[in-house]
Amino acid sequence: MTYLFYHLAQEPEHVQKIRKEVQSLMKGDWSDKDIHGAMHLNGAINEALRLHPPVPSGLFRMTPPEGLHVGETFIPGSTTYLMPSYVMGRDEHNYEDADSFVPERWYSRPDMIKHKDAYAPFSMGPMGCIGKNLALTELRTLTARLLAGFDVSLAQGEDGKRIMTETLDHFTVDPGDLDLVFTKV
Ligand code: HEM
Repeated sequence: MTYLFYHLAQEPEHVQKIRKEVQSLMKGDWSDKDIHGAMHLNGAINEALRLHPPVPSGLFRMTPPEGLHVGETFIPGSTTYLMPSYVMGRDEHNYEDADSFVPERWYSRPDMIKHKDAYAPFSMGPMGCIGKNLALTELRTLTARLLAGFDVSLAQGEDGKRIMTETLDHFTVDPGDLDLVFTKV
C-alpha cells in the first residue's frame, strides 16, 4: 500500500483512471467481487509489487542432491540459492522500461512484459503464500475506497526520497518514511 501510494501521489493520472474505473463498479453495497476485474487498479497493484516486492531478496531454496541446471549454469546439489525478486522486477530482460510504473503493461501492453514467470511476489507452488487472495482483496478494496473519495499528494517538505533510500530488507521489507496528504474530492 505504501509503495503503491508513493507512485500514485506522484503520477495523479493513475488516480484519475482508477477512480473512473472503480466508481462505475462500486454501486450500493459493493464488495471485492465487483472490482475484482478492475484492470487499471489491478495493474497498479501489480506494478507496486513488481517494483517494491515485500520479500525483496527472495526466498531461500535448496537444490536437489543431483544439482540443478538453470539455463547454462549448473548449481551443485544441496546448495542454498535464491532469486532476488527486487532485481528480477527491474531487469530489462524481463520488462520493457523496467524502472517505470506502467499499470497498462498488465492488460493493454503485454509486449512490455518479456518474461511473465519473473513476477512472483507471493512466490508460487505448494510453498507459495497462502494469504495471496486475501492480501489482493484488501489491496483492491482499500485502494478503491480511498481513491473514490480522496486525491493523494506528497506532503509539504516530502520529496519521496526517504522511502527509496531508507527502506530496509529484513527478509520482509521495512519501508522508509513517506508523508502523504489525502484531500477529499
Ligand atoms: C502483499 C502481501 C503479501 C505478500 C507479498 C506475501 C508473500 C509471501 C511469500 C513470498 C511467501 C512464501 C514464503 C516462503 O516460501 O518461504 C508467503 C508465505 C506465507 N504467507 Fe504471505 N504474503 C502476503 C500477505 C499474506 C497474508 C495477508 C497472509 C495471511 C492472512 C499471509 C500468510 C502467509 C502464510 C501462512 C505463509 C506460509 C505458507 C506456507 O509455508 O505454506 N501472507 N507469503
